[in-house]
Amino acid sequence: MASQNELKQKVAEAALKEIQPGTIVGVGTGSTVNYFIDYLATMKNDILGAVSSSKETEKRLRDHGIPVVGTNEGPIAVYVDGADECNNHCQLVKGGGAALTGEKIIAAIAKKFICIIDEKKRVKQLGEFPLPVEVIPMARSYVARELVKLGGDPVYREGVITDYGNQILDVHNLQILQPIALEQAINQITGVVTNGLFALRGADKVLIATQYGIETLTPR
Ligand code: 5RP
Repeated sequence: MASQNELKQKVAEAALKEIQPGTIVGVGTGSTVNYFIDYLATMKNDILGAVSSSKETEKRLRDHGIPVVGTNEGPIAVYVDGADECNNHCQLVKGGGAALTGEKIIAAIAKKFICIIDEKKRVKQLGEFPLPVEVIPMARSYVARELVKLGGDPVYREGVITDYGNQILDVHNLQILQPIALEQAINQITGVVTNGLFALRGADKVLIATQYGIETLTPR
């Protein structure tokens, strides 16, 4: 039986087939994407460059000699990223690695968003994984009180500062029945930078590594 890390590596390898030479590739953040970066390095002379979603990913890309370009330097053909949860509609919870803001920007820009997960991330209903919310530090307590009104139990992720100098609240016990409505409602709270629901802009394709091979999910 393949371990979770072996499944992450397999799905990362499968994602390489989605990359066309001569294009700019968006690259997410996390342990699954780290495997993808290792595979992308084999194409480093064929692609125009990679757009990074975080400082951590940028370092790994550079360490592999993959050219890093900015978000304004050309269209991003494909964005490859992992997720913490994925439902049947390719809607996601992300941000376990605190890189949700950069990830959401690249997902918005990219023509195609390919999400790579192992089977443990597949859920019927989002919300088991605490929903990350990036907040401007001076608004943290206020945002936490507003999140309680929405039915969640926010927990301050102590010691974590995002790439943009902000803080993270992880919201537990949310019943996410309407992901798009909740994504919008949380983004309306003053002081929220963004939240880890990727429902308004979910994945265009999800590759799922299972014990039996790679499964593909597209939005219903
Ligand atoms: C980082 C993310 C990651 O995609 C998510 O946390 C999954 O990470 P991993 O591939 O390590 O399981 O959203 O902000």
